[in-house]
Amino acid sequence: MSAKQILRSEAILEKYGKAISGKTILITGVSDISIAGELAIQLSTADPRLLILSARAESKVVSVMEKIKETRPNVMTRFFKMDLDYLSGIREAVEHDLADIHQIDHVICAAGVMACPYTMTKDGVEMQFGVNYLANFLLVKLLLPKVQAAGPSSSIISVASAAVRQGKVDFDDIGFSNGKTYEPIAAYCQSNVARVMFAKKLSENLEGQGVRVYSIDPGSVTTGLQRHVDAEMAAAIEKLRKDGYFVDVDGNRWPSQPRATRSEGAATIITGMIDPTITDHNGAYLSQNALADDELHRHILNEKNWARLWELSERLIQGQ
Ligand SMILES: NC(=O)c1ccc[n+]([C@@H]2O[C@H](COP(=O)([O-])OP(=O)(O)OC[C@H]3O[C@@H](n4cnc5c(N)ncnc54)[C@H](OP(=O)(O)O)[C@@H]3O)[C@@H](O)[C@H]2O)c1
Repeated sequence: MSAKQILRSEAILEKYGKAISGKTILITGVSDISIAGELAIQLSTADPRLLILSARAESKVVSVMEKIKETRPNVMTRFFKMDLDYLSGIREAVEHDLADIHQIDHVICAAGVMACPYTMTKDGVEMQFGVNYLANFLLVKLLLPKVQAAGPSSSIISVASAAVRQGKVDFDDIGFSNGKTYEPIAAYCQSNVARVMFAKKLSENLEGQGVRVYSIDPGSVTTGLQRHVDAEMAAAIEKLRKDGYFVDVDGNRWPSQPRATRSEGAATIITGMIDPTITDHNGAYLSQNALADDELHRHILNEKNWARLWELSERLIQGQ
């Protein structure tokens, strides 16, 4: 098992990339400026069979697909249109557009939105909780038979964030009193806590099946994610960076993260997918290519909260 270290995707693929050869991989959140877009390009160098690239508009993935076609013409790519703010749309997309795909080796849930103004998904759920977490809960549930069909060493990766350290899931009021008490960063943190707890509960549910499940923090990467960060938020983030540390909800101090490139951001996802040295720690949260459950606070590590979140999620997706 490695110590925490920022590494480029190329370094992880050089070590373990053989495991990607011939595989079918579905990635959400693909664009030419996103971590998921970079992940797709990086993975293509390891000769997967098929990369299923999801976004809400084809224009987002065209340049990624072209780049892969240019450099790795043997790797098949497919655009998978899916809008994550609409649960029945996710169901329809999986049922219709993936009906011919019977096995998926790796599912990477990387799409997300940060600190947007208060809005709700079409299903009436606060947007960041809905897109960053609840959509993945449903998506993974729908794709699970295909992942199980792929057999051992398949993986489900829930991309999360170090923002988990400053968040909790408010089970009594996940929607910030219909927006009245909404704080964009608090909602982002909440959604990421949910992403981490989801991976923990899912791995528990799948115990013994050989499906790798990890949540990961990609690090601090300049992408499209910062589009809603206003001057005030940017100044607060910069202050934390200058202070050199921030404090989690348990009062523990953590060093601020150095900036990483998109290749470095994608690397921890690849670690989750294929690093054989972490297999005995299924369900773990990973940061900088290493196990990082030591960074999680008590609310996240509380198994009762995993079960509570699961029940809440089942209720929220019912009938949608
Ligand atoms: N960048 C960082 O520093 C950082 C740090 C920690 C964690 N993360 C996590 O890493 C993941 C990837 O983020 P990124 O940095 O690559 O950001 P990004 O460039 O904004 O990529 C996120 C992608 O998610 C898509 N998305 C947003 N809402 C969607 C919806 N309703 N339906 C379908 N797709 C939707 C966006 O597509 P549209 O353009 O169509 O909106 C975008 O292409 C996120 O989950 C984020 O929380 C990032």
